[in-house]
Amino acid sequence: MKKGTITSVDRFTTVSAEETEQIGKRIGRRLKAGDIVALEGPLGSGKTTLVKGIAKGLGVKNEEAVASPTYVLIREYEARQPIYHMDWYRLSKVEGPDRLLTEECFNSRGITVVEWAERGKNLFPKTCIWIVLKYEGLANRAIEIVGLEI
Ligand SMILES: Nc1ncnc2c1ncn2[C@@H]1O[C@H](COP(=O)(O)OP(=O)(O)O)[C@@H](O)[C@H]1O
Ligand SMILES: [Mg+2]
Repeated sequence: MKKGTITSVDRFTTVSAEETEQIGKRIGRRLKAGDIVALEGPLGSGKTTLVKGIAKGLGVKNEEAVASPTYVLIREYEARQPIYHMDWYRLSKVEGPDRLLTEECFNSRGITVVEWAERGKNLFPKTCIWIVLKYEGLANRAIEIVGLEI
């Protein structure tokens, strides 16, 4: 028998930003208090677009406010649960106060979504939802959702 953890992977391909947002919405509807979503993928792969959908799925009060927190590290949105939207693009490592802030979000009842999650992979619990976005041409993106490991 195969050893190790069993991981489920769902794979989608989208042909527009709207489609990526729709997938985000479907994810957002199913998220629960304390859930953590990690987003891995290069610039322009659609991470922020996906977060817009996730926030809508969570019933965000101010849709317009959902934007990349690249320069501020974190944005907070009011929704069914508070959403903590982080972006680690400008960090080479997640340490010091950035790490403490991250742990505070992860341990909260809010929902934390992190762009450039690969910068601090070791901080994520095994129960997080890990999503990999791949650029596959001008408007094509592959989105892989790695589910709970058991
Ligand atoms: N299938 C697609 N999914 C997501 N974004 C797409 C897609 N096709 C084109 N785009 C465009 O790619 C860009 C993605 O930007 P963004 O979501 O900010 O990416 P990231 O946060 O990963 O840097 C947007 O300009 C969007 O309109
Ligand atoms: Mg972004």
